[in-house]
Amino acid sequence: MRAGSFSEFALRKIAMATDTAELAQLLDGLSKPQKRISPKYFYDQRGSQLFEQITQLPEYYLTNTELGIMRDHIAEIVACIGKQASLIEFGSGSSLKTRILLEQLSELAAYVPVDISSEHLHASAALIRDEFPQIDVLPVVADFTQQFQLPTPMVMPLRNIVYFPGSTIGNFEHDEAIELLRVMRHASGENGALLIGVDLQKDPAIIESAYNDSAGVTAKFNLNVLQHLNRDYGANFDVSTFTHSANYDQAEGRVVIELISRANQMFAIGDTEFDIASGEAILTEYSHKYTLDGFAKMAKMAGFTVAKVWTDAADLFSVQYCVRS
Ligand code: TRP
Repeated sequence: MRAGSFSEFALRKIAMATDTAELAQLLDGLSKPQKRISPKYFYDQRGSQLFEQITQLPEYYLTNTELGIMRDHIAEIVACIGKQASLIEFGSGSSLKTRILLEQLSELAAYVPVDISSEHLHASAALIRDEFPQIDVLPVVADFTQQFQLPTPMVMPLRNIVYFPGSTIGNFEHDEAIELLRVMRHASGENGALLIGVDLQKDPAIIESAYNDSAGVTAKFNLNVLQHLNRDYGANFDVSTFTHSANYDQAEGRVVIELISRANQMFAIGDTEFDIASGEAILTEYSHKYTLDGFAKMAKMAGFTVAKVWTDAADLFSVQYCVRS
């Protein structure tokens, strides 16, 4: 056996250990007084397709508004990034927003998409390479909430720019969001910066309709979590007895996305059984909305200063350029 390689037995043990830890986390979340399922279970194949559909819904203003801001201000954004930067995207980089940036950043040292799903990451990196053959594309498989090793591009980057579009920062609770911003600050290095999409607080009716679309795609997306657990985690949810719910909590500045049981019933994950009452909720995700001031304060706590903010005419969404304080 080569040094550094594993026997099949050892590999199976490692796989089982991660499965066991993951299963323990899943059971733990459902054992709490406030039942919870991690948002990572949204994104199986069907979930990813449904999310793609969500981004194209008329009510889901986030994606189109952010795209519009990028297009309207691309010259200024590109000027902030400067020449010969390494663009490090937290997430797989399959979006149209990334392409707008890559088209305009002519002298990029490298493009480094970071994602935990190797399959998804390498598929989207291959597409980017085809479209931009002159760009050094260096995908990194990693959980970006933890510090990770950056690759060394062929051309020495003058600075690192972390890119985090989509207001995904809003899916983290306050302390976790600050932690993640600190990881980004670390990845940005000495004279680096952060370019981030941040959804803004606004009329609650606009926010609530974005998460309760009339075509019912968001409901399908949320309920798909239960189908995913039934198929891959030995769960036995009766999906037809749950309904989608998304309410904006104005005091907390966040959308609370839940699955509500419509019956007093039991469900099981493998051999572990759970009771759920009629009307009881399982929390699947938060989506935080910020004021410009609120986000600036949070960024400050992570060692960033907001240097530039671009918004749309209605102030629905913002793209923010943050430098190290
Ligand atoms: N990052 C997205 C958001 O917060 C995720 C999302 C969109 C989502 N629609 C959803 C999550 C519906 C759960 C349910 O906007």
